[in-house]
Amino acid sequence: MSTAASKKLFIKTWGCQMNVYDSGRMADILAPLGYALTDSAEGADMVILNTCHIREKATEKVFSDLGRLRPLKEAKAGAAKAEDEPMIVAVAGCVAQAEGEEIARRAPWVDLVFGPQTYHQLPEMVARAHRQAGRPLVNTDFPVESKFDHLPGEAGTQGASAFLSVQEGCDKFCTFCVVPYTRGAEYSRDAAGILAEARRLTATGAREITLLGQNVNAFHGEGPDGSVWGLARLIRALAEIDGLERIRYTTSHPRDMDDDLIAAHRDVPQLMPFLHLPVQSGSDRILAAMNRKHDGDTYRRVIDRLRAARPDLALSSDFIVGFPGETDRDFADTLKLVTEIGFAQAYSFKYSARPGTPAAALDDQLPEAAKDDRLQALQQLLWAQQGAFNQGMVGRVIPVLLDRPGRRPGQLQGRSPWMQSVHLQAPAHLLGTIQPVRIIDAKQLSLTGTADLVAPDLVAPHLVSEEAA
Ligand code: SAH
Ligand code: SF4
Ligand code: F3S
Repeated sequence: MSTAASKKLFIKTWGCQMNVYDSGRMADILAPLGYALTDSAEGADMVILNTCHIREKATEKVFSDLGRLRPLKEAKAGAAKAEDEPMIVAVAGCVAQAEGEEIARRAPWVDLVFGPQTYHQLPEMVARAHRQAGRPLVNTDFPVESKFDHLPGEAGTQGASAFLSVQEGCDKFCTFCVVPYTRGAEYSRDAAGILAEARRLTATGAREITLLGQNVNAFHGEGPDGSVWGLARLIRALAEIDGLERIRYTTSHPRDMDDDLIAAHRDVPQLMPFLHLPVQSGSDRILAAMNRKHDGDTYRRVIDRLRAARPDLALSSDFIVGFPGETDRDFADTLKLVTEIGFAQAYSFKYSARPGTPAAALDDQLPEAAKDDRLQALQQLLWAQQGAFNQGMVGRVIPVLLDRPGRRPGQLQGRSPWMQSVHLQAPAHLLGTIQPVRIIDAKQLSLTGTADLVAPDLVAPHLVSEEAA
């Protein structure tokens, strides 16, 4: 028994939800080798930095973290007893994929560098890293076999809200974006594997599942009957799973919002009325230069149809300001689109030139100061829309999935159907359940509610957790 769960694994995750999912799966793969998660790099037997390459800052943060890990690794080696193995430092994710050799050169104390499509090979990689200490092992292949066919079922219990990767990679090649290079070509898992994973997640406590993919609505997986299923078909099948009360999906591309998926927003009550649909810009000229394959009006029409299908649908989006050649007028078109549509929340970024992408080679790059001004103006508008959206909840009674303990004793936190964070006083045994909550206050980023509507008989006994007792 001495080896079981005797090693400490620390994983730090940057980037998108896909990376969060991948980190969870890496922990699952390493568990049978005796690794259990810990919350600090200090004293860990293995540290994995699961990285993001989307903007420049993300990459630099990885190198500065690696700098901090070096003395920890040396300290552990210095203190090692004869039977101890040295600390393994690994870089995973999209920076690893894009800059594997550069990492090996700049940080030669790293043991392992592996991309998003090879982490199912972790047991072999760890064994090899122990054997060949001294030079980083770099594995940035895109293997022919899919990692999904080689992952174990998740270990242990599950939070009320779970992620499930259904699609990976991207063939869209927006001119600013590294994802098609770091994650590779578009690939959909088969539906049977996804449904099995969803059933396992639900059986171990998940009430909400968010389907993940870089281009999740381009999903076209093989169905159990051999036909090709789109995302809508998959969602309808997931909605049949007992106990799965909420379904979400992210991130979508406006071009892949097909009729069937729009209809699913009308027909499937479990599909939550919140959609993250990145538009990037409101200027047709810039959208064309970005190779987004849609213009502003196409986006507006998709939103109109979605809202007709599900009138309470709230929207979120991503924006890039300061793309090469963006004029004041182009930027004004972005503000106009935001004003017309109205977003419940959104992410906005300054354009960051990424090595190897077509937009990085354009000459008309904007000065940093212009990007700063535009970002501030856009964020101010989006901020006001978000505040107003949250304010509109005050006085309403809404269903909240209580998925986390609160910061103070006696508190729980949860999510509204529209992805708002909700704080309330509530007994711990309600954790993992959906409860009606009256919203009494709204802040910029969260809502406060009262659980005085919570009736004890709404609580299913099997959901009462041991800790709560
Ligand atoms: N697949 C998704 C999002 C991928 S990346 C989509 O199609 O939209 C998440 C967000 O990061 C993007 O929507 C974009 O707004 C932003 N982003 C990507 N590359 C960027 C870059 N080079 N500079 C600034 N923001 C970028
Ligand atoms: Fe990147 Fe565009 Fe693909 Fe999204 S659709 S991942 S922004 S290339
Ligand atoms: Fe970042 Fe890779 Fe996700 S670049 S956003 S971690 S797909």
